[in-house]
Amino acid sequence: MKMIIDTDPGVDDAMAILYAAAHPGIELLGLTTVFGNVTVEQATRNALHLVERAGLDIPVAQGAFKPLVNGPIEPSQHVHGPEGFGDITDITVSRKAISESAPEFLVRMAREYRGELVLCPVGPITNIAHAIALDPGFAGNLAEIVFMGGALDVPGNVSPVAEANTYHDPHALDVVVQSGAKIRMVGLDVTNKVLLDAADFAALEGINPTHGAFLREMSHFYLEFYKSRGQIGCGLHDPLTLMSAVMPDLLGLTVTPLAVTLEGPEAGATRRGAGRPPIEVATSCNPDQVKDLFFAPFR
Ligand code: BDR
Ligand code: CA
Repeated sequence: MKMIIDTDPGVDDAMAILYAAAHPGIELLGLTTVFGNVTVEQATRNALHLVERAGLDIPVAQGAFKPLVNGPIEPSQHVHGPEGFGDITDITVSRKAISESAPEFLVRMAREYRGELVLCPVGPITNIAHAIALDPGFAGNLAEIVFMGGALDVPGNVSPVAEANTYHDPHALDVVVQSGAKIRMVGLDVTNKVLLDAADFAALEGINPTHGAFLREMSHFYLEFYKSRGQIGCGLHDPLTLMSAVMPDLLGLTVTPLAVTLEGPEAGATRRGAGRPPIEVATSCNPDQVKDLFFAPFR
């Protein structure tokens, strides 16, 4: 499967990218970066580092530094650490991002791999809205968009009703859901059902000392954040999104038009609503099966 990940790395983004790099069924064509967990400049640095670490030779294109309509947001340093990788702050990078912007790169790749490219946005979905504006044919050129975000029948994680990625750019999500692309939303309804704790990260290190040690080290800060909220373990947000892309039957799905609240105290809320084309929304999963399958490519 040809895939591009649009990302704001981020601890769980790093888990997702290393998963994709290790998965024999995923051909990663590039990474595009966006503000969110960190600034877009830091996201690009982190993405370049992950590409090197994974031994990949793929382009990284930098994207939006702010949401479509609203002003810049504060990065989520309290969740993902000062530079996005938990306590790890000494990462090195020897490559550079390509000169094309993320939306330009996405438009070009969707044309080149027409009908084949699966796009996995796992941060605020801003770059995808920009790509749609750049090329009216963009959405139709994609095989599918499988994005991490939203909360249909469960509470949010940054407000009582909104998940972080949809909260940070609801306007962009509303553009994307109207684009005509085939879309699957993988949100908190499923990602918060699969929790990885310190023992799981230790097991991952046992299976894959190189990537596992790196992820275990960066997860410490992330797990402490969740602990401060009364939760033992972190949700498998971004990795589960990629897993759903490459294993379409993994998650239970419902089909519904998605209404996104754009402004006000409920901004970023995602609910069943009329007036938009139907999309797939992941609503159920088998957590033990998902965990096993997450570990599999690292073996
Ligand atoms: C989403 O927000 C970010 O903090 C994570 O990387 C994930 O994409 C979870 O709500
Ligand atoms: Ca993310």
